[in-house]
Amino acid sequence: MSFPQTRLRRLRSSDSMRRLVRETAVCVDDLVYPLFVRKGRGLKEPIKSMAGCFHFSPDTIVKEAEEVAKLGIPAILLFGLPDKKDITGSEAWAEDGAVQSAVRAIKKDVPNLVVITDVCLCAYTSTGHCGLIKNGCLDNDATCELLAKVALSHAQAGADIVAPSDMMDGRVKAIRQCLEKNDFPDVAIMSYAAKFASAFYGPFRDAAESAPDATTGLADRKTYQADPANARQALAEIALDIEEGADIVMVKPALAYLDIITRARQRFDCPIAAYHVSGEYMMIHDSAKAGHIDKDAAVLEILTSIKRAGADIIITYFAKEAAMTMRK
Ligand code: PBG
Repeated sequence: MSFPQTRLRRLRSSDSMRRLVRETAVCVDDLVYPLFVRKGRGLKEPIKSMAGCFHFSPDTIVKEAEEVAKLGIPAILLFGLPDKKDITGSEAWAEDGAVQSAVRAIKKDVPNLVVITDVCLCAYTSTGHCGLIKNGCLDNDATCELLAKVALSHAQAGADIVAPSDMMDGRVKAIRQCLEKNDFPDVAIMSYAAKFASAFYGPFRDAAESAPDATTGLADRKTYQADPANARQALAEIALDIEEGADIVMVKPALAYLDIITRARQRFDCPIAAYHVSGEYMMIHDSAKAGHIDKDAAVLEILTSIKRAGADIIITYFAKEAAMTMRK
């Protein structure tokens, strides 16, 4: 039927009418809030490159976790910074590491909050790479063994979900086997399955002090993170991670990769997470600060687009603000 029988504007006539026919609703249950933790006591230091984000210590992060839970946000994602970096990134699996201590403290105080831990080495290695560098190359298989150790240490501390973000081949399998062998069959794996070598991680690398060191011979992460131009290869990455034992798969970044989210949604049945990353966060923040856009409206529109594309879970530094906006 065509005009005038069909007038699509009829269903846009009022706020209630628009709500009635709305196809996509982002809600607080979809959100995950990322947090940064380092060793120490009483810390809540603003992160220069990421406005509104902080470096916490394992004691102060508990209060933040309580606040997140009170807002109704179901999960946090923890990133750690070490005291000392070395070639293997050994502090990443230390029992008394910042992440391990924070997980223990949070699980004790806020047991119902889902605690997800980022499993990677880039913040812990002296090279700033996500794995072990040997002769100017990444040693893929040796790295997988180290990542399994990291994941196990997080599971032992009480993490509900471990989230490998390194993009080595076979790391999900290595982690799954290690968790099974050590009697942690119920810890879930959310793999950063389709993680692209993106320009949008800049602010995070300052926050996590994890920029790759060019003197290693590898100035970027392009030999392990996916090429932004490749959609079919991204789907192959996701398929492999599911086969290796991932429970949730992630597409990262979100906004420049909505097509990947949609294609993954059509092809796979497990929950799909999308990471709205630091560069995307700061673009909106700075644009709003300059008076170009209305921040709350822009955030809601973007989160809706990520959900509409097919994501079940959205990891965003805007989680707290969005939860407050959604409450209004
Ligand atoms: C670590 C990791 C990165 C991010 C999450 N985990 C950075 C990178 O790959 O260099 C980026 C998150 C963000 O930009 O918000 N491998």
